[in-house]
Amino acid sequence: MNLKNLKDHLVALSEQLAPYQQIWDREILGVYPEGLASYNEAWLTDLARLSHDQLWQLEARESYPSLPAGELRDLLKLLHSLTQLKTISITPQKPLPSWAFFHVKEKKKHEIEVLMGELSSLKERLDFKHIIDIGAGQGHLSRILSHYLGLSVSCIEQNPELIELGLKRQDKYPLPDGGRTFDFLNLQINGLSSLTDRIGLLSPDSFLLGLHTCGPLAVYQLQSLLHSKARGALNFACCYGKMTDQKTMNLTGLIPFELSPFALTLASRSHARLSYQDFCFKERVKLYRYGLHLYCHEFRPELGFVSVGNSGFKDYYAPFAHYLKSKLPGKISADEGEIQAWFLRPRIQDQLRKMFLANIVRWQFGRALECLILVDRALYLKENGLEVELAEYFEEGLSPRNIGLLAYRCSPTRAD
Ligand SMILES: C[S@@+](CC[C@H](N)C(=O)[O-])C[C@H]1O[C@@H](n2cnc3c(N)ncnc32)[C@H](O)[C@@H]1O
Repeated sequence: MNLKNLKDHLVALSEQLAPYQQIWDREILGVYPEGLASYNEAWLTDLARLSHDQLWQLEARESYPSLPAGELRDLLKLLHSLTQLKTISITPQKPLPSWAFFHVKEKKKHEIEVLMGELSSLKERLDFKHIIDIGAGQGHLSRILSHYLGLSVSCIEQNPELIELGLKRQDKYPLPDGGRTFDFLNLQINGLSSLTDRIGLLSPDSFLLGLHTCGPLAVYQLQSLLHSKARGALNFACCYGKMTDQKTMNLTGLIPFELSPFALTLASRSHARLSYQDFCFKERVKLYRYGLHLYCHEFRPELGFVSVGNSGFKDYYAPFAHYLKSKLPGKISADEGEIQAWFLRPRIQDQLRKMFLANIVRWQFGRALECLILVDRALYLKENGLEVELAEYFEEGLSPRNIGLLAYRCSPTRAD
């Protein structure tokens, strides 16, 4: 990716997002009722025309073409095109013994299978000798890379319990011929110096791998690459909501707005496969949650915004009045019949519907916000002399945080 393309991409994303900041930067409930005014009436009318099935497909990010021609459709089309990236396809590997993936979830297995092929070819291409797996968890990825591809790997992990699990697992099954063991360093990375100050940890032969590095850890990984002589890095970010320092969300300084915690949560939105049943359940949860807010707004405004946790499945299939009373024990004096009649009034049902549809619109901005953060990181590394590539590595339905940022030095600075 060249500097100009990246810069143009960042500018296009921020120009596209800026006019809709009132939508993506705030949650509908947090600014009720004014927040709804940011949603064009015509968009909500277009959405109201869709069948339930089509709404589900839109929410699941599977299709927007079902929308009638108009502003909303054009907006979604543009967001879609700005978030399209090259995709990495899986390289078939020799079969592994049955125990290699024992107790490894389908999502993790898929990620590892993709990364096996990718890291083998990157090793050839970039000629690194050692991988440092940052935020390795119990080291499933490192175990497969070292045991079955014979790569030299060290893991860094802050949680000693995960390290213990990883070490036990390493000893449990036979090491194949040509396989290597891997080691762990129990370390909490708090900034650039955590890695770069460790003499010998980052050499020109090192490659920094971070699979789902939470919040700022991704930035620490990339900055450590930049400020060391390491050969390259591949990072998959996650949990953007854990970032609190605006500087880490705008490394180039080119993003013309700040990202609120709500925007960051939206950037980490799940794009995982959403079944029709999940969609129907999500709708019920939203309608009850919005209903509770509307009820308080009308009858108990002194309560302000009420935070309520999730309820059990069956609570959302009980009458709304029952849900409301269980969420606000002792605070609602009206009887269940009155509450239920209020909830079923056309005025309330219309308002709830609008909020539900508006939330579907808001949801569509999640991927663009994520791309904004990642293109900014890529551009920052590029401006500092590294080669960068952004691509989708995993099947989005299985592993939603699937964008990998690869950065490397074209001509390595060898210490010797
Ligand atoms: C989402 S998990 C990913 C684990 C593993 N890479 C995987 O994909 O299965 C993130 C891991 O990073 C670790 N972690 C988070 N912040 C860290 C930090 N600042 N320093 C070291 N480890 C950290 C967490 O304890 C956790 O195990």
